[in-house]
Amino acid sequence: MRTPIIAGNWKLNKTVSEAVSLTIDLIKLVDKISDVEIVIAPVFTALSDVHDAINGSNIQLAAQDVYWEDSGAFTGEVSAPMLKDVGCDYVIIGHSERRQYFAETNESVNQKVKAALSHDLKPIICVGELLEEREAGKTESVIEDHVKGAIVDLSVSEMESCVIAYEPVWAIGTGKTATPDQAQEVHNFIRNILEDCYSDKLASQIRIQYGGSVKPENAEELMSQPDVDGALVGGASLDAESFAEIVKQSR
Ligand code: 13P
Repeated sequence: MRTPIIAGNWKLNKTVSEAVSLTIDLIKLVDKISDVEIVIAPVFTALSDVHDAINGSNIQLAAQDVYWEDSGAFTGEVSAPMLKDVGCDYVIIGHSERRQYFAETNESVNQKVKAALSHDLKPIICVGELLEEREAGKTESVIEDHVKGAIVDLSVSEMESCVIAYEPVWAIGTGKTATPDQAQEVHNFIRNILEDCYSDKLASQIRIQYGGSVKPENAEELMSQPDVDGALVGGASLDAESFAEIVKQSR
């Protein structure tokens, strides 16, 4: 069936040496695990060194964002071929922090997803509602808008390379996790959207991660839900033991 995927989004944390040391600690804790995909997403400046550190291990590398042009006069951006060049396998796209603080839109998310795919990087597409949207009963319409907006014009094989991360914004960094039932409900809704847009077969293959205050204490219950295929972990991924424990609980 679907192999669980646990990704650590390190956000704006860790110097190069700190990132490498966290990576080395993590490798020791998860080296026997082969039935979970394990991904870490350091800051851009640490990607190359972390890539060297994970060489030969069961850990894969992700970037936290990408720009859609390959090169040119776009000061401050980093492109898909550049991420590929430093050994990235995945790239997180459309994280709510980018939507909130850096004017990311469905259109830019879609352009970034296409750029990543065209350079053989697998997108982790983030979607999720704000607290006020949930309270106003708009969760499904927001999720539908984010999912459909991100995947405009993707072929079946392109879609097959994508992972979707459902991250309710109200659960990120707040310690307030969605209940397993709340997560399952939205994950199932996302799978139904994929079924409508593509097929039952494709929908049943796509991994949908949950993100938002995932910790060793709540990971097992969340990931035992039928449509929850892993986690996108923020804070708890900055500690090797916590992250390794979450990985183990996803099996
Ligand atoms: P926390 O696990 O810190 O809530 O962050 C979740 C997240 O945003 C992962 O991308």
